[in-house]
Amino acid sequence: MRIDIITVVPDILKSPFEASIMKRSIEKGLVEVHLHNLRDYTTDNYKQVDDYQFGGGAGMVMMIEPIDKCITKLKFERNYDEVIYMTPDGETLTQGIANQLSLKGNLIILCGHYKGVDQRVRDQFITKEISIGDYVLSGGELGALILCDAVIRLIPGVLGNETSALTDSFQDNLLAPPIYTRPAEYKGWKVPEVLTSGNFPKIEVWREEQAYQRTKKRRPDLLED
Ligand code: ADE
Repeated sequence: MRIDIITVVPDILKSPFEASIMKRSIEKGLVEVHLHNLRDYTTDNYKQVDDYQFGGGAGMVMMIEPIDKCITKLKFERNYDEVIYMTPDGETLTQGIANQLSLKGNLIILCGHYKGVDQRVRDQFITKEISIGDYVLSGGELGALILCDAVIRLIPGVLGNETSALTDSFQDNLLAPPIYTRPAEYKGWKVPEVLTSGNFPKIEVWREEQAYQRTKKRRPDLLED
C-alpha cells in the first residue's frame, strides 16, 4: 500500500511513522508513506495556502490551487483508490472502514487546516470524507495518523501474529474480552481459573461470553447492528 498525505504541517506527521508497528510496516516494504507539504505547491512568494472566506466570516479557508496542483501531480504518476479528506463533518471512522481501506493499493489523505478547504476541492477531488469523532481538532493531521494506524495494522504481514487483529475489539461488533498474563496470582488477585485450565474449547466459550457481557454493558449499541 502507498499512502500520500497532503498537509501544511508535515512535521506533526513524521515521528509516528518512525516508531513501532507503522515503522516496521514501512521497513518490511508493506507500506510506503509520502508526506507532501502543500506550501511546495504554491506560486506566490509568501507560500500562502489560505485566504479569507467569500461572504465574510471568521477563519481562513485553504485555497484550491495548491491542492489541485498536488493532487493532479500525484494522480498523473499513478492511480489512486481513494482521495480522503479528514474533516469533522465526514463519516465517522469505524473498524469496518479501516478494514475496507486496508484492502486498497494507493490512498491520498488530505489534511484540512484553518476553517477547512474550499468546497470546490471536496466537490472535484475527494472520494471519501472521514472524521475521527464528534469533536473539532485544529487540523486533520492527527486524524490522518489515527486513520493510518488503524489501516496499516490490518495489512497482511504487518502484525507478527496474523490472527491478533481478528480478535481486536470491534472486529466482529464485540468488544474484546478481559486478558491476563503472568503471574497467575498477584497480591492475592487471581486470574480466572478457566484461563489456566488448559481446556481450550472451554476458554473459547468463556472469552465469547465475556466479550458479549462486556459489550452488553458498555456498548449495547454494537449489539443492535
Ligand atoms: N479535522 C478537525 N477535526 C477533525 C475530526 N474530528 N476528524 C477528522 N479531521 C478533523
